[in-house]
Amino acid sequence: MPADIRRPIGECGAVAIYLDNHSTTRLDPRVLDAMLPWLTDHYGNAGSVTHEMGREAREAVEHARELMAAAIGASPREIVFTSGATESANLAILGSASRACATGVTGGFGQPTQMQGHVITVATEHHAVLDPIEHLERLGHAVTRLPVVLQADAAGVVGRIRVPDLEACFRCDTFLVAIMLANNEIGVVQDIPAIAACVHARGGLLHVDCAQAIGRMPVSVNDLSADLASFSSHKFHGPQGVGALYVRRQKRAVRIDPIVFGGGQERGLRSGTLNVSGIVGMGEAARLASENLQHEIVQVRAMRDDLWRLLRERIDTISLNGPALDDLGVRLPNNLNVQVAGVDGHSLLATFAGAGLAVSSGSACSSENPRPSHVLRAIGLNDDEARASLRFGLSRFTTREEIVEAVAVIAAGVARLRG
Ligand SMILES: Cc1ncc(COP(=O)(O)O)c(C=O)c1O
Repeated sequence: MPADIRRPIGECGAVAIYLDNHSTTRLDPRVLDAMLPWLTDHYGNAGSVTHEMGREAREAVEHARELMAAAIGASPREIVFTSGATESANLAILGSASRACATGVTGGFGQPTQMQGHVITVATEHHAVLDPIEHLERLGHAVTRLPVVLQADAAGVVGRIRVPDLEACFRCDTFLVAIMLANNEIGVVQDIPAIAACVHARGGLLHVDCAQAIGRMPVSVNDLSADLASFSSHKFHGPQGVGALYVRRQKRAVRIDPIVFGGGQERGLRSGTLNVSGIVGMGEAARLASENLQHEIVQVRAMRDDLWRLLRERIDTISLNGPALDDLGVRLPNNLNVQVAGVDGHSLLATFAGAGLAVSSGSACSSENPRPSHVLRAIGLNDDEARASLRFGLSRFTTREEIVEAVAVIAAGVARLRG
């Protein structure tokens, strides 16, 4: 385990307490070490194999492909390197739609599709999935967005879909189902094997967004029975701007069309000069994510549970968003999402400014009028409840001292706002 990562931030020199690991994670120093040679002396293009520098870059990429494949139980030839989970999901969704239209034979129940088909997804997916599907809708495809179990009724696991709902909305032209493994806001883990059985019985393809899962729970594309799966290196202590798409080639091979055209890299599925240092970093990060997984799960989960206990001790009327923390296997061990009644999350974040505490609120901060999170709304929270929410994401670098300090900062902020 690398040494201390707490470091001064900002002009005030306050110590950063980074609890926003669903957004991005710190580059592991061991990953940086693996990347550095490929950013300095070894700068060959992995496509230029007419000389030694190109060939060594190609070998480094192929080694990283093996590491990434091993981390998810895939074969190296099933890995396509991309710029992140957004691009991977776009390639999976738009590429399978393009192929379904071109061949007209991939419809559900083995039926021919028309030029337009039907896609099923879930209301709580990330925009990397929702938006390309919305694009398909504009092109004339039909889309079903499944609801999830609500916080209020909780008949089932909050945030999970009900498989009978999925069964009921299948059509003879359904060619793709896109459902994430673990949610980036409430950490809920979907029952992908049961979903896959339903999708495959009806002849559809299943894309699984695994961006938040790797490094936080075991991920095996075969156990999941995924046809396509997306990953982003910076979610598991690798560099930003690099990702991977798993495209099944064993048993029932999946065929998709490219969405980026050019030099024909990545078996023609993703043209463009490969980001060698980034890919090497992703491979090393994937290796590290599997190496210590069970230990890290136990360690991170204990700290997350402490965080929740301490928050409840210090703050009145605080409640949990999403599934129960002790529902083993249905919530990421590093995730906590809470609602502080009557307190606006953005105003609360503003009180942390000098304390260097990084967490995120239940509303998107990209506009002047922050939109409440679509995930929190989908589990039944109203706008005010969503705005009163905070999301925490812990990592292998989180320490107990940081948890204690974070709770003190948050409790002081809540007291200030309520006072
Ligand atoms: C579940 C999920 N999918 C996809 C993405 C997109 O990843 P990237 O921004 O690295 O492309 C994210 C990032 O937040 C995510 O959490």
